Amino acid sequence: MKNTFGNSLLVTLFGESHGKMVGGLLDGIAPGIPVDEDFIAHKLSLRRPFGPGESARVETDDFSIVSGVKDGRTTGTPLCILIPNRDQHSEDYDPDLLRPGHADYTGYCKYHGFEDRVGGGHFSGRLTAPLVALGAIATYALRENGIFIGSHISYLGGVSDREFSQNPLEDIELLEDLRFPTLDEEAGDAMQNEILDARSRDDSLGGILETVVTGLPAGVGEPWFDSVESVLSHLLFSIPAVKGVEFGEGFGFADLPGSEANDAFCLSNRKILTETNHNGGINGGITNGMPVLFRTVFKPTPSIGQEQNTVNLRTGREETITISGRHDACILPRARVVVDSVVSLGLCDLLAVRYGTDFLNPEE
Ligand SMILES: Cc1cc2nc3c(=O)[nH]c(=O)nc-3n(C[C@H](O)[C@H](O)[C@H](O)COP(=O)(O)O)c2cc1C
Repeated sequence: MKNTFGNSLLVTLFGESHGKMVGGLLDGIAPGIPVDEDFIAHKLSLRRPFGPGESARVETDDFSIVSGVKDGRTTGTPLCILIPNRDQHSEDYDPDLLRPGHADYTGYCKYHGFEDRVGGGHFSGRLTAPLVALGAIATYALRENGIFIGSHISYLGGVSDREFSQNPLEDIELLEDLRFPTLDEEAGDAMQNEILDARSRDDSLGGILETVVTGLPAGVGEPWFDSVESVLSHLLFSIPAVKGVEFGEGFGFADLPGSEANDAFCLSNRKILTETNHNGGINGGITNGMPVLFRTVFKPTPSIGQEQNTVNLRTGREETITISGRHDACILPRARVVVDSVVSLGLCDLLAVRYGTDFLNPEE
């Protein structure tokens, strides 16, 4: 059982989907880091369901910071954020009917039936709310240090978005407030139609998020086991429904000869850069100063309205299940802020290990 992540900056998550509240604890954060509650609220708003393809749940996400912040800045002691659960419809679920693709059965095997399975319990996407709230503090601190993160839906329902441009900072700005984060509006419209179509068939869709990080100094990463890829993938695979992560060309490297896969070095104002970025800004588990680039694949939302075969834990019999609760036909639009958040937390941890906790405090 492990609900805490990190070496220097420790993140702990707790709560259940239909319990009283969910929350998160950040320990090891430098003192003096600005905590902008409007920024946190904005990031949480990007995680909430919206629009016709997504769940009708009302997740207001009113949060309260109960420790670790004074006069709008971190104190340096553990920072705890609580988010009450307000819109539970426990009657939507029979927790004994195992939902295919969800964590009901595996959770039961691990916690022997003592777990609170309703609504996905501790495995629910709801737990990503405190992750986003804590991540917002990290994102803000990174920005103050010139490090920016942005993700877009690069592939969904057979539709591809355009790639990040040579100036990813502009793209990151463009994506900032979008509820449906694509770089190309037409691609975004086509993807939304695919989601609506899936929903009309009581089905769901997965897809790929692509993320870029700019402004990271070269030399960050703790190989072997806390290489930048290891830390980021560890966090990304902790997000429910993530089933794959690839850095740079990723699985595409299988089709490239070395002469095309290598990124040749060059000089720009005496700074060492690379002419291409097939390696996604990381060599040997350490940042090389180029933008860090990776893709994350999400599976389709497991809860769907179609009839599926399952087993009833109470009766021990085979049954069918038709899930009528309020679910997103595709979680990618909401999941992108979750990806940005875990990446912010992971990078703050790596930076704190490399340069010390106070590195992130601009006034130190
Ligand atoms: C932001 C977010 C929202 C989610 N919402 C739902 C949902 O409404 N219904 C559902 O069945 N799964 C949802 N999921 C996915 C499940 O939580 C996840 O598939 C499940 O816990 C099983 O874990 P696994 O897919 O990683 O194996 C969501 C995931 C995220 C990240």
